[in-house]
Amino acid sequence: MSKNEFKDKERYKYILMHKDVEVAEILMTDDGHIININDVYEPQHLPVGTLKNGKCNSILLNTWWAYRAIPTTRKGINEVLQALNIGSTQALSARCLGLSLSEHYWIKPYGANLSWESINFFDNAFSEELGDTLLGFDTGKAQIDLKHIGNIDSLSPDSTSNGNLKKRWKIINGERVLLKAGTFPYQQEPFNEKIASALMKRLGIPHISYDVVWIDELPYSVCPCFTDKNTELVTAYSVLASKNKPNHQNFYQHYINLCNEAGVRDIQTFMDKMIVVDYIIANEDRHTNNFGLLRNADTLEFISAAPVYDSGTSLLYNKPVDIPNRSSIIECKPWYETHDKQLKLVSSLDWFDASKLDGFGEEMANILEPLKEKGYVDEKRVNGLVEFVESRISYIKSLSERKTESCEEAESDVLDLTQEQSCGRK
Ligand SMILES: Nc1ncnc2c1ncn2[C@@H]1O[C@H](COP(=O)(O)OP(=O)(O)OP(=O)(O)O)[C@@H](O)[C@H]1O
Ligand SMILES: [Mg+2]
Repeated sequence: MSKNEFKDKERYKYILMHKDVEVAEILMTDDGHIININDVYEPQHLPVGTLKNGKCNSILLNTWWAYRAIPTTRKGINEVLQALNIGSTQALSARCLGLSLSEHYWIKPYGANLSWESINFFDNAFSEELGDTLLGFDTGKAQIDLKHIGNIDSLSPDSTSNGNLKKRWKIINGERVLLKAGTFPYQQEPFNEKIASALMKRLGIPHISYDVVWIDELPYSVCPCFTDKNTELVTAYSVLASKNKPNHQNFYQHYINLCNEAGVRDIQTFMDKMIVVDYIIANEDRHTNNFGLLRNADTLEFISAAPVYDSGTSLLYNKPVDIPNRSSIIECKPWYETHDKQLKLVSSLDWFDASKLDGFGEEMANILEPLKEKGYVDEKRVNGLVEFVESRISYIKSLSERKTESCEEAESDVLDLTQEQSCGRK
């Protein structure tokens, strides 16, 4: 982005806020690009990963800001922007003051008298209308007419809810939950989330519990918010960007070291477990924004790994089960291109108790039953998926019995993470 590109645009001054901490004064165009940082007041509160050699610049900050917006690759987003008469998804975030339910940053129009207490979505209700529009209901009803300074009633966390799948936040019985759609032809993703939750529950792995709801004959996953008023998500992408990687380390070691330095000491065990789960369900999308750490937004102390979330792009979600050469076309992220290789990073399987998975195939088939009843998958596919998972569980079981696998041989050629590859936007 060159500054020239924005020379004819209207510009607005905002304060980048972290809860009630005034972090920096920024200049933003009316189409939602951060084009200048006028002043930094609280450098330690800048978003993790936006400092390079101790300095933040508008390009780094705008990259962070752009990632929080809805990707332009999300199906149907252009129609939504047209219906709302908003030029870009970044402008949509700006109109909603950048407020989010995953972390605690927001932008305050310069001179506005707004406090985190009065505006955050953890305590205050939010508009349903943008969410309706994003899921394709009542398109045109949403009035995001905030222009420069907000009509608070029309704010929504959906403008900062990134990711490719259609999704929305909703308050159900006082609880903030995220609803996420599936994709054709199988509509499997919401069910995959539920299956992954069941698997992790059995294995005692920290995870977000997903269920499935049907709306207008389509399934959606539904899960509670894992952040709260004091706790926010810092993605692995941001953690990795926070410090240059020493040449002698690979990105995986770099991540483990940074987490250890941040005080998250049991990270290796957590990563072992997540890698094994991703192997069992053949997850194709564990990019570095699909896992991370939780931190206290007031003290900036890191607390733990975030519970496992977003595991739905798995279980051959868009492929026939009986496809030849299956394992070579299943993608793997983020450390290796194949799950077999990535598995070699696992340092210990002592925690893996195969007996906890007795009867898991049956549980899986039961979870998939409603999808079969609605005709999205047939008996053959359900059986094929159960067999697929059972054989992968057997393989982990055999590894755990042998206890001889070592990560050493694999570590030397961990993928070099390019920005696009690692953050999930191709
Ligand atoms: N339960 C939750 N609580 C708080 N934040 C969440 C929760 N689930 C997801 N998020 C945030 O919302 C983002 C988008 O959600 P999610 O990753 O589930 O969507 P997706 O469309 O499947 O993403 P992708 O593009 O990786 O496929 C996540 O990266 C995370 O920042
Ligand atoms: Mg995601």
